[in-house]
This record gives sequence, C-alpha cells and structure tokens, in this order.
Amino acid sequence: MREADSVSEIREADVSEAEIAVHWREEPRIDPPADFVAQATVRDRRLFATLSGNDFPEGFRSYADLLQWDHPYDQVLDQSNPPFYRWFSGGRLNASVNTIDRHLGSARDRVAYYFVPESESEPITALTYGELASRVNRLAGILRNRFGLAAGDRVTIHLPMVPELPIAMLACARLGVIHSVVFSGFSGKACGTRIVDSGSRLLLTMDGYSRNGQWLDHKIKADEAFEAAASSGVTLDGVAVFERYPGRYRSASPLRPGRDVALTPLLTHGSDHDIAPASLESNHGLFIMYSSGTTGQPKGCLHGIGGYLAWVTATSRYVLDLKPDDVYWCMADIGWITGHSYIVYGPLSIGATSVIYEGVPNFPDAGRPWRIAEKLGVRILHTSPTAIRALRREGADAPSRYHPPLRLLATVGEPIEPETWHWYYSEIGHGKAVVVDTYWQTETGGHLLATLPGIEPMKPGSAGPALPGIEAAIYDETGNRLKPGAKRAGILVIERPWPGLMLGIWNDPERFRATYFEPLRRGAHKDRWLYCTHDAATQSSDGYFRILGRTDDVINVAGHRLGSKEIESAALNVAAVAEAAVIPFPDPVKGHLPLLFVATKPGTASPKGVARSVERAVIEAIGPIARPKAVLVVEDLPKTRSGKIMRRVLRAIATGGDPGDTTTLANPESVEAIRKEVGRSL
Ligand code: WT7
Repeated sequence: MREADSVSEIREADVSEAEIAVHWREEPRIDPPADFVAQATVRDRRLFATLSGNDFPEGFRSYADLLQWDHPYDQVLDQSNPPFYRWFSGGRLNASVNTIDRHLGSARDRVAYYFVPESESEPITALTYGELASRVNRLAGILRNRFGLAAGDRVTIHLPMVPELPIAMLACARLGVIHSVVFSGFSGKACGTRIVDSGSRLLLTMDGYSRNGQWLDHKIKADEAFEAAASSGVTLDGVAVFERYPGRYRSASPLRPGRDVALTPLLTHGSDHDIAPASLESNHGLFIMYSSGTTGQPKGCLHGIGGYLAWVTATSRYVLDLKPDDVYWCMADIGWITGHSYIVYGPLSIGATSVIYEGVPNFPDAGRPWRIAEKLGVRILHTSPTAIRALRREGADAPSRYHPPLRLLATVGEPIEPETWHWYYSEIGHGKAVVVDTYWQTETGGHLLATLPGIEPMKPGSAGPALPGIEAAIYDETGNRLKPGAKRAGILVIERPWPGLMLGIWNDPERFRATYFEPLRRGAHKDRWLYCTHDAATQSSDGYFRILGRTDDVINVAGHRLGSKEIESAALNVAAVAEAAVIPFPDPVKGHLPLLFVATKPGTASPKGVARSVERAVIEAIGPIARPKAVLVVEDLPKTRSGKIMRRVLRAIATGGDPGDTTTLANPESVEAIRKEVGRSL
C-alpha cells in the first residue's frame, strides 16, 4: 500500500464507520454465564501481567512450555532482523510429535476425530490418537520411501473435509515437508497456480466426495492443476490419489500410469512403519497458506513450527477454553487457516476430540448441525457469522429441538452483528454458553482479539480487547495513535511481535516487509516495525475493538477472502471484455458477494452472453465461492484522469450511497449509464 492510498482508504473507512454506526449502537456488556466461569481455564488476569508487561518477550516462555521440545531453545525471541522475527530460536521439535505422539501414553484410545459423512445414512466413525498415529506414519512412510520427500520439500494437498486431510498434513509435518493445502472448492487452475508458486513436488488428492447431496468428481481437478502447473514450468513428480471409499474408485478421470499413484493399496498392504520424526529448528517452515491481497498473485503465508504451534495451542486453551476431555467442533474447512489452527494443530496439540464434517451445514436441513452436536456431545462450537445467519434463516426454531451440552460458542471471519449474536447466544447456547468473537488473519496464525471467556464480559458486535501479549492500537491517517474511546476509525495495528506471526511470504521476503510493515514506517514511527492489519477499526473506551472491514480491496465472502485482482483477471480472460472491476456487494447471509462491472470491446453484440461467459470464467478460475452476485455489462467504467478505475464510485452507485463529486472523473458521463444498468439489473 502506498502512502497516498492509505490516506484515501482511511477516509473511506470513516464513511463506512458512519454507515455502520446507524445499525450498530454501542451494545451493553454481558457477563459470561456463571457455570462457564466456574470451570474456565483462565479465571484471573495474571496472564496479562506476564505477557503484556515489561516481561516481554520472556513472558512467552510459558507458551513454549505448552509444547514438547527435543532440544531447548537458546532465545525466546530473536529480533536481530526485523520484521523477520524468530521465536524460540535454536529449539528443536516436531509438530506431529506434539499433536500425536505425546498423547500416546495415557490417551492412545481417546478419540482424536469423529468423522461425520455428509449422508446421514452413513455411520459416524471415530479415529483414536493411536489410530491417527498409525495412519500418519504409514503415509509418511509412503511420502518418504516412494516419493523421496524430505525436510524442506513442498507438497500441495487438495482434499475435501475427510480425515485424510489432517492425516496428510501431519504426515508432511512428521518429515518436515512443508504442506500447502488448497481449499477443495478451489478450481484445478487455482490449485495449479499454488503448485507453481510453492514449487511443490507432489499433489495429494481424492477421487471425489459428497457435497449438498451430490457426488463431486474431485480427481478431475488434479488433472487440470497438473496441466496448469506444467504449462508454467512446474512438473510434479506425481499425483497421489486417496479414495473416499477405499477400494471403490469413483472418478471420470482414470489414473494415469506413470504419474498418478493409487494410495489405497499402498496404505493397506504396506507394513505399519514407524517413521522417525524429523527434529526441526523452531523456525523451520510448517506450512504455506495462500491468502488473497490487493495486488497480483495470492500471497503464500509461511508459518513456522515452534512459534505457530505455541500460539495456536495457547489460544485454543485460553480463548476456546479447550480441554483434553472436550468434544469440540469447528465448522470451518481445514482448507482455510481457521481449520489449520483450530481443527488440526491447536486441538490435537491439546489432545482434545474434534469433529470433521464432510458436508454443508444445512444438509439435508438446517437442524443437521444441532443433531450432530447433540449426538456427539459437542461442548465447544466454532463457526462463522455467515453460517449462523444461514442456519437461522432456514431453521430459526431448529435448535430448540436438540440439546447439545454447549458451553462455549466461538465465531470467526467477519463481524457478527448484534442481532445474529443474540440468536446464537440465546437459541444455540440457551444463555448458558459464552459467546467468543475471535478476530485474526491468515498471517497472524491465531487469534489476536477476543474476550478471555472466563474473565471478560461479552459485547455483541465487538471483537473484544487484545489478547494477553498482543499490543493492539488504532492509528489514524497521519500516523497518530488514537486513544481508546476516540470515536474515530483508523487502521488496526499490532505494535509488538507475537509467536503466531508468520515467518514471511513464500519466495518474497520483500513483499512481507512492504505489505505489513512499511505502511506505518514514516514520521515518528520511521524506525518502528508496526504490523498493519489493513483492517479499519474503532476502539471504545473499555478497550474493545470493533472491526469495520478491510481497507484494501479484498472481498470477504462468507469469511473467505477473495482477491479482487484474481476475480478481475479471470473476467479479463473473456475475449470481449476490455475492462473489469469488482466490488463487494452486501449480502444478508454471506456478508458480501462479488459484483462485477465489465466494459466490453467495441462491436460486442450480446451483453447477456458476455455476462454469462464472465461468470463461467470467474468460477472456473477461482471456484463457485467467487460466483458473482451479477455481472453488469457497461460501456465505460468511471476513471480518474490518471486512468485508475474508481471502484468507490461503483460501490456507491450499486449500494445506493453517495458517489461524491464525480465531475473530476475523466468520464463523468459513465456514472449515469452505470446507474441505469444497476437499476435494470439489481
Ligand atoms: C480477515 C482475515 C481469521 C481466520 C479466518 C479468515 C476479517 C476475521 C474477524 C472478526 C471482523 C474479521 C478481517 C481480517 N475478520 N475475523 N472476528 N470480526 N472481521 O482469515 O481469510 O485471513 O481473513 O477477515 O477483515 O483481516 P483471512
């Protein structure tokens, strides 16, 4: 982000603050239910004293102590090369040992995962820690012996919500292979781009899976991904294919001899290897997770082992209040960071029991999640505002028929408006479960803002104060640090490093510095390394933050960040399209949907045909998650004299806001034409 941009972006944030204030008044604080408080892990504020006081960074020793180390670390925090912070440097450990082996003594027979197939007629299966160990070791043996993979290599994993997904991640982690999981809903092409960027040697996939009552052929995407990567110069050593129902291969794409390898026979006939875990330095890469940003390629966020694992273990314990004997269900997809941190690494590190659900929440009806939760005795539920809105809309009274023993309800991904919050609290939690809104990002590894559930009151619509050890503040457009209660919006900034912060952007250290740390290195802060979240926010006098949305042009659909540049370049692939601009359009369920404006080349006949092709191109490039609300074909897009498309103007017209002074545009007449098109189509 350049300086000039950041100023105009913050001004926009001011506008949205004013708008949001109309709907969101400051809500009264609500104390957590007494029964919850009585058993909560954190019941006093000592954590803040050790982590946020002068003890920094030494206080974080208590986080490292939550892990099992092969070799102790030399330094809590190596700050010699900011912003490339290295936590617990010199220490050695293995993530699969910390999530599996260390539970094998007393908890070998404890369930690590319940797997719930989408079809209700298929039985739920339980995978104990002992069974998880054996399956992870077998796969690690195949990765090492058959594919020759070793520490530092990269593997792309494109799997749906099945136990094979965490098994694949942990098998990589055992060898020190860096995994890059691509969300299963993403297209073959999107998977191919990520194979190229990460330089992966192997792709792990599955024949197919069920979603919304339909069988989806998934292996077909691996063929596309392989071709797309090969045409960009990266040829995989192989494609390893799981079967959703072992022994019953179901895909229209046959296995290609010499390239594709069926895993079922190798896994069933192979001996039960005991694969020695690689003992790795704390800052060795654990995984790459791609996240969309303002410009160009998606960013490969690289997370390390020690700092990341300590952070997700600690926050699972203190924020989610997760205990080893809990049954916990995070409804996110493991293909996003939420699933990595809070379905795989955090909960397994604690030794808890988690639920993996294959399908969509409202299949076959909106009562499904509550049935699953009741049947499995789920005590902690973690989901997104989008899912809550959808379930409420389709079955507001469904939860009253089921009685899961819930004590904590977490949300993540986007702001939860008070109305939805209250429904979650009273209808799902029956007023007995505490609600925890967790704010964080792919880049941050785990939670940054949330109420510590046993000691801090809840405030609907607010993500809560900063967690212990997180120094968060709002900075205005001139770089001033705003006081809590300033009643103004600005950028949310984290002033000190914390163990969950990513190591950097894969292959692009400069971009890490430029994106997250350069925006505030000016004026009084020119020598500081302030982490810029790129989220606009306000802070009230009690220290609680309210997030207003991204200041860059990322579109948050149902808690999933889609890069507008990725969507626009897909649209530009349609021959008739001359220019494309996408804006987030508010949606009652998903938060936002992409709304596309395209200008066609002269002489283009059918706007309807163009719109259809653009929609197809976007879905093909990114996946159905990016399906536009609409594609509006116009003659011309509003532009500044320097040729920059004014998305702000498009957004104002589409959402009925004030586009401001448009006379300074290079083409002010475009505004009226767009207004007409919006009136016709939306
Ligand atoms: C962006 C990060 C965090 C894991 C899932 C998404 C928005 C996230 C909240 C929240 C308001 C939130 C922010 C953030 N966001 N949580 N509780 N309240 N907004 O990870 O894809 O990296 O997206 O999601 O805008 O920057 P992500």
